[in-house]
Amino acid sequence: MMVITTMPSPTSQKRLAKLTMSIITAFLGTVTGFFIGITWTKFGLMIRVPSSQEIAHAGMEARNGTSYPGAEVLPPGIVEPTTDLFTRRLWGNPADDIEYQPKYLVTFTVGYDQKDMIKEAISKFTKNWTVVFFHYDGRINEWDEFEWAQEAIHISALKQTKWWFAKRFLHPDVVAPFEYIFIWDEDLGVEHFDAEEYIRLVKKHGLEISQPALEDNQALTWEITKRSGDSEVHKNVQERPGWCQDPRLPPCAGFVEIMAPVFSIAAWRCVWHIIQNDLVHGWGLDFELRRCAQPADEKIGVVDSQYIVHKTSASLGNQGEPLNGRASWEGVRDRCHQEWQLFRERMEKADQESKLDSSDDSTGHSKTRYLKRKSDGLI
Ligand SMILES: *[C@@H]1O[C@H](CO)[C@@H](O)[C@H](O)[C@H]1NC(C)=O
Ligand SMILES: *[C@@H]1O[C@H](CO)[C@@H](O)[C@H](O)[C@H]1NC(C)=O
Repeated sequence: MMVITTMPSPTSQKRLAKLTMSIITAFLGTVTGFFIGITWTKFGLMIRVPSSQEIAHAGMEARNGTSYPGAEVLPPGIVEPTTDLFTRRLWGNPADDIEYQPKYLVTFTVGYDQKDMIKEAISKFTKNWTVVFFHYDGRINEWDEFEWAQEAIHISALKQTKWWFAKRFLHPDVVAPFEYIFIWDEDLGVEHFDAEEYIRLVKKHGLEISQPALEDNQALTWEITKRSGDSEVHKNVQERPGWCQDPRLPPCAGFVEIMAPVFSIAAWRCVWHIIQNDLVHGWGLDFELRRCAQPADEKIGVVDSQYIVHKTSASLGNQGEPLNGRASWEGVRDRCHQEWQLFRERMEKADQESKLDSSDDSTGHSKTRYLKRKSDGLI
C-alpha cells in the first residue's frame, strides 16, 4: 500500500469534523481528478498517489514555457504545468488559503524509532520550511502526538529509501515554488545548525549544491565533509594521496555526500534526472552531482559554520531480509555496492553515447539520440 497523507492544522481538523463524510468525499472527488482512492481517517486524508510514470509524464520535456506535452490542445491560459506541496483549506476563498508561503523544503526519511532525533532536527527549521516526512516503517499515525507533525506532509511506503521517495514525490514540477530543497537522513545531530543562517551562507557563497560540515567525531568517509574550524564554507580539500585524479574533481572538490544534501531548485531540476528508478540507495550519486552545478568547484561546497553530527543509526539497513544465512544489513550493504557499480556503468555508457552523439551533430542526424528517443517512445 502506498498512501500520501496530508494533515490539516488542528483547528481545521476540528472544523472538518463538523462536515459529514459524504460531503468531503464528494467534494474531493471532483477537485482531485488526478488522484484515485481518497479516504478520510483519524489522521487526515489518505490519498492514493499517481505512479512515478504518471508524475514524470505529466511534466516531461519542453520547458520553454510555450508547450507542454499533452497540453497542446488546451488554451495556454488554463495550463498549470507545475504544482506545489502547500496544504489548503476545504472552505473559504482559495486565494486566502496560504497565509504564509514557505520558501524552502525539508524532507526527512524516517522510522518512528528515530522520533527523538527528528524532534530535535525539526526544531531547527522555521516556518520558512515546508516539511515532508517519508515513512519507511509504516508507522504514520504514531507521529500524531506531535503538533509539528500535524502540520507536515506524510508519505508512506514500506521499506523504501529516501532516493526512492525523492524520485517519486519530489519531481521538479512538484517542488517548483521552493528556492532550496533539503533531502536529509534521520540520524543527524543538529545542535550546531541554524537553518536560516545556513541559507544565508549558501546564498552568500553561491552554492547550488551543499551540505553542512560534519563534526569530526569519528572516521569520516570523505575529507571534504569534515568541518574546518576557521571558515564559513569550503569548496575543496586535500584528500589522501591517490584519491583524486584532479584537485578540482570529486572527492576533492565539487562533492558533497548524500546524507544531508541541499539543492537549489535549478540544481535539483537536473539532479532529479540522474536518480535512477531502480537504484534506490543512491550510491555513486554524490560523484555525479557536479554535472548539475557548473563550475562545480565553485558551486558545490560544505558549510563549516553551520555543522551537524552524523549519528549513524543503520535503521533502514536493518529492514532488509536475511538471505542465504547472511544478516539483513549485509544484504543491504551488498546491494549498495552493486548499485554503485551499475550506476557507474550506466554513466560511462551514457557519456560515451553522448560523445558519439555530439560528434554526429554536424550532420544533424544523431543515430544514438535517434535510437534513444525511439526506445523512449518519443518517435
Ligand atoms: C517551444 O517548444 C516547442 C516544442 O518543443 C517549439 O515548437 C517552440 O518553437 C518553442 N518555443 C520557443 C519560444 O522556444
Ligand atoms: C523567513 O525568511 C525571511 C526572508 O529570508 C526572513 O526575513 C524571516 O526572518 C524568515 N522567517 C523566520 C521565521 O525566520
